[in-house]
Amino acid sequence: MKTGITSSVTVLLYILILLSSGTDALFYGKDTSVINLYPSSFEREVFLTNYTTIVEFYAEWCGHCKNLRPHYAKAAKSLNGVAKVAAVRCDDDINQPLCNKYGVRGYPTIKIFKPNSATPKKPYIEDYQGARTAKAIVDTVLGKISNQVSRIRSDNFDSWMDENGKPKVILFSNKPNVPPLFKALALDYTGSISFAMVRNTEIELVSRYGITKFPTIIVATKSDDGSLTTNVYEGEQKKNKIYDYLIKNC
Ligand SMILES: *[C@@H]1O[C@H](CO)[C@@H](O)[C@H](O)[C@H]1NC(C)=O
Repeated sequence: MKTGITSSVTVLLYILILLSSGTDALFYGKDTSVINLYPSSFEREVFLTNYTTIVEFYAEWCGHCKNLRPHYAKAAKSLNGVAKVAAVRCDDDINQPLCNKYGVRGYPTIKIFKPNSATPKKPYIEDYQGARTAKAIVDTVLGKISNQVSRIRSDNFDSWMDENGKPKVILFSNKPNVPPLFKALALDYTGSISFAMVRNTEIELVSRYGITKFPTIIVATKSDDGSLTTNVYEGEQKKNKIYDYLIKNC
């Protein structure tokens, strides 16, 4: 009888040990698109990029952080390939220098880092004060993606096409704003491909290229003899698909 109780206690202890070692798993695990940042990787991930990054400074014991976790992971999934979603665990001693540097006093503290093309090592930093929902986070970050896509019209189209020897990618769109996906592509190909958007209201250009639906992407490359070849991208309007197409065709 007595040994029965002792062994039950032993089993219970085992279970407790297993459970507590389970909490050593990452707060944002590999199954999420959240990038865990440390002093050794922060600068590379956040500063040496043309992508906008949102960073959550959190502590594992903090209730608000636990509440935010599923929303933040969901935001990371939606923003994958368009902006970076990262986290720094401040109750990990190794990260103290980072949390001090960014003046973190409460948890979670959420900051948005937007690259500054003039001084790459000094991005614009602002506190995220919006709602702690995936949608609010995604909308805010999408509004802060750097835009390297030119807006062109009939009157400046030809000069833009002649600007440099680089391949050109043109999005014909019936929307007023450059889509985030297209901005992200332009960031991926900074310096090697020029990107522009033309509105459907540019009737002359729309008819010159025989555009019948929106959005349509065309790719213009110079052949060896200097003549321009244009191709219509026929694939899905998905970032990785367009990305791969451009690798092959530019
Ligand atoms: C970021 O953009 C600038 C031009 O604005 C470019 O010179 C630089 O190579 C880009 N950096 C990265 C990491 O893509």
